[in-house]
Amino acid sequence: MAMNLMLMGLPGAGKGTQAERIVDEYKIPHISTGDIFRAAMKNETPMGLEAKKYINKGELVPDEVTNGIVKERLTQDDTNVGFLLDGFPRNMAQAEALTEMGKELGKELNGVINIHVDPESLMERLTGRYICRNCGATYHKVFNPTKVEGTCDRCGEHEFYQRDDDKPETVKNRLDVNIKMNTPLLDYYKENGLLHEVDGNQDIDKVFADIKAILDNLK
Ligand code: AP5
Repeated sequence: MAMNLMLMGLPGAGKGTQAERIVDEYKIPHISTGDIFRAAMKNETPMGLEAKKYINKGELVPDEVTNGIVKERLTQDDTNVGFLLDGFPRNMAQAEALTEMGKELGKELNGVINIHVDPESLMERLTGRYICRNCGATYHKVFNPTKVEGTCDRCGEHEFYQRDDDKPETVKNRLDVNIKMNTPLLDYYKENGLLHEVDGNQDIDKVFADIKAILDNLK
């Protein structure tokens, strides 16, 4: 059975960190709406310029833009073996749109993982995050530093950056916006019998071990 998965969690919960490991382990494509928007912003496409207005304030990009991008991505053949959605859906309108897309394309979700982290620790995680400019690997100055200072573990390059939306004033709004929308989404996937909860307050390897135990059972 194809693994059609969705990873949920508040900003900074560790979705990107765990997504890297999941797609490596299960050989499915990673579909991160945040990554798609950041690539479009970097290339200054019309969609990227539109998304930037929302992202840099910590607001959600309008649903019609986001839903369209995901639908287009799910029609691509590499998702026939399964996929990992990361950061989508983020509200009920997107969740309902995804359910419809899944039915239409024959790609309904069969597992949702929610990484739960105490909200108080998220500000510190996000403001301490740094990313390799070459390969996009994510680190944290305290919780997950590179093994050799200033050198990316994955690609060996030396240039890192901080995301514009990881500045403390934007992080606060991102957290407020997402906390409000999270509970109805969790209820929706719980009622559908798809939700699996993981404790994201543990170290990164332990979180992955818990996720792997769940996914090995879904295969
Ligand atoms: P997006 O890119 O999806 O950002 P996000 O949801 O805010 O989540 P993050 O990527 O910031 O965090 P993460 O959970 O991936 O954490 P990470 O693994 O890096 O979205 C960005 C923006 O795009 C949104 O604000 C919105 O504007 C727009 N957007 C995206 N999707 C949208 C949608 N569907 N609809 C509308 N708009 C949308 O970890 C964080 C840090 O913690 C890292 O430094 C990491 O090293 C560290 N860390 C990870 N795990 C642990 C651990 N277990 N212990 C200690 N530290 C850890």
